[in-house]
Amino acid sequence: MSNITVTRLTSALGAEIAGVDLGAPLGNEAFATVHKALLDHCVIFFRDQQMTPKQQIAFARRFGPISIHPYAAAIEGHPEVMRVFKEKEDKVNFGGGWHSDMTFFQKPPLGSVLYAKEVPPVGGDTMFANQYLAYEALSLGLKRTLDGLNAVHSANAQYGVDGMSEANRHNEQRSMKPKTSDEAKAETIHPVVRTHPETGRRALYVNIGFTQRFEGWTKEESRPLLRWLYEHCAKPEITCRFAWRKNSVAFWDNRCTQHYALNDYHGHRREMHRVTVEGDRPR
Ligand code: SIN
Repeated sequence: MSNITVTRLTSALGAEIAGVDLGAPLGNEAFATVHKALLDHCVIFFRDQQMTPKQQIAFARRFGPISIHPYAAAIEGHPEVMRVFKEKEDKVNFGGGWHSDMTFFQKPPLGSVLYAKEVPPVGGDTMFANQYLAYEALSLGLKRTLDGLNAVHSANAQYGVDGMSEANRHNEQRSMKPKTSDEAKAETIHPVVRTHPETGRRALYVNIGFTQRFEGWTKEESRPLLRWLYEHCAKPEITCRFAWRKNSVAFWDNRCTQHYALNDYHGHRREMHRVTVEGDRPR
């Protein structure tokens, strides 16, 4: 009999799982428990895990093919394992704003497995927000409007040659320098509200990192409503906050959450290994 326990973190989302060794191949029963917990709680956390890069990749692969970040560097010898780090002297971190990962892809990720290799003595937490609840809290009128809309997503603001993001403007204060490319200008269209392919639940699907405008609307026309939605998407009541320890792991469902890596640990080093699982086309 399995001795896996799943303990909820907040009423909105997040659960801590104990009794699983992610470094070992997961049996079918353990896999089913972890998979169900991910669908039920949107983000799951594990403590005290020992995983080599190969083992982290093997765990992520149980959920689908691996998706490789087109702009951020990987660890040596493992293109599937992205290195997310901030040095003591850096001012800018990676992922320091609310976003869902890589929504500029036609098939954005199902989720990511993030493994803490080095953490600051205090700070460097990650916040997550439940986008099912963000959608469900809207009025019927706004739901009806958003249900019929698509949005244009692109990587340009973060990774474009002329990108305007904070991270790019202050690239010199950052050791982790993702590539910039003209290809980042490419645009992808996704529904503003997507139906989760496994749970069938509806979730809001716009994020300040990559959403440009509503399809068929100008940037100026889109801005007020998008701004309102970005604020709504991250209301404290629909969030949870995870305090990392070395060897902690988080696995988030990118189809129904956004996350935010807090940048409140200047003068200390933080390093994580991220393996991302490919998703399907949002509908
Ligand atoms: C990310 O956005 O993948 C980074 C999250 C983190 O470092 O906490």
